[in-house]
Amino acid sequence: MNDMTILVTGGAGFIGSNFVHFMLREHPDDRIVNLDKLTYAGNLENLAQAQANPRYSFEHGDICDAPLVEEVLRKYGVDAVINFAAESHVDRSIQGASEFVRTNVLGTNVLLELAKKFPLRKFVQVSTDEVYGSLGPDGQFTEMTPLHPNSPYAASKASADLLALAYQHTFGLPIVITRCSNNYGPFQFPEKLIPLMIINAMNDKPLPVYGDGGNVRDWLHVSDHCAAIDTILRRGKEGEIYNIGGNSEQKNIDVVKFILQHLGKPESFITFVRDRPGHDRRYAIDAGKIQRELGWQPKHSFRQGIAGTVEWYLSNHEWWKRIVSGEYQEYYRKMYEER
Ligand code: NAD
Ligand code: DAU
Repeated sequence: MNDMTILVTGGAGFIGSNFVHFMLREHPDDRIVNLDKLTYAGNLENLAQAQANPRYSFEHGDICDAPLVEEVLRKYGVDAVINFAAESHVDRSIQGASEFVRTNVLGTNVLLELAKKFPLRKFVQVSTDEVYGSLGPDGQFTEMTPLHPNSPYAASKASADLLALAYQHTFGLPIVITRCSNNYGPFQFPEKLIPLMIINAMNDKPLPVYGDGGNVRDWLHVSDHCAAIDTILRRGKEGEIYNIGGNSEQKNIDVVKFILQHLGKPESFITFVRDRPGHDRRYAIDAGKIQRELGWQPKHSFRQGIAGTVEWYLSNHEWWKRIVSGEYQEYYRKMYEER
């Protein structure tokens, strides 16, 4: 599948903007249209290098706005949709889930309804391993693991997955679902563990570790995630689900210590704070299916990837300083002061 016009929703966020850069670099015959509402998490600075590219276009808008999305699909003659647009932060979903249901469920449904009207070659619904719930000390999530979402965020993503599968089954649409583990890398909004800890450590501020720090996440560099989605866009089978992960399980406390070590800061910066309600203990992905069937493999080791990410935040002070000096202050105060 070459020479495509691809609608990327949520392309001004962390993974979406990395994906836009990846596609413009890797596929010189494709055109990318980015539809983004520019919520607190959307940042056009992430796309500064793409703006001048004639193969890239930006449309400011909401995926819940059906007439607008329809107009975008028609105007550009879109061949494929990659739906990244979402409310993505678990802690925010615990404070209030309405926006999560609106964008993640209703917004996805708007896109699916429109997919019936347009002759798309592929529709990739970008989902998450959180739909499977939490693991004990052993085992991994496979694509056959029953859904057991535990947070409002995860429940909204699982709902979207079920809608996408139902539309594929009922209307024969070319829909594929991806379920990836935790990403890290450039342009990640500093509400998430890794950028938050890097920035706090650089500012000599406390590093708030939830609970006992023993929760485990399975980390994947964002560029490996982008390559996996691109592979699925081109070769993924309609109606299939593909897990994506890097075989890099780490306890949160070890991630935080590694960041401190890399920055030459003391472990005394770590403060254990009240746990996240309903906190999933462990995620681990079996990504054997995409490796066997589509030949995708992650390229980054965790240690090398984290080191590069720390370097990126060190070299991009202006990017994150503008973020943390704005409404983020209020978010941080509310989320962490009473912990
Ligand atoms: P993000 O929060 O950084 O970015 C989300 C983007 O979506 C922002 O640019 C925002 O402006 C946009 N958006 C939000 N609501 C919108 C709406 N109604 N209409 C149009 N645009 C809207 O998120 P992320 O971390 O880049 O995650 C992207 C996708 O990948 C999400 O669907 C998420 O569930 C999934 N995912 C994320 C991870 C991870 O570790 N970050 C892992 C697996 C899956
Ligand atoms: O697994 C995929 C998911 O990964 C994605 O679907 C989500 O969009 C993404 O946000 C991420 O969810 P997590 O909840 O795992 O990511 P977060 O960075 O918020 O937290 C990672 C771990 O670190 C988790 O166990 C909670 C813990 N944590 C997080 C923050 C922000 C802390 O201990 N302290 C913190 O300040």
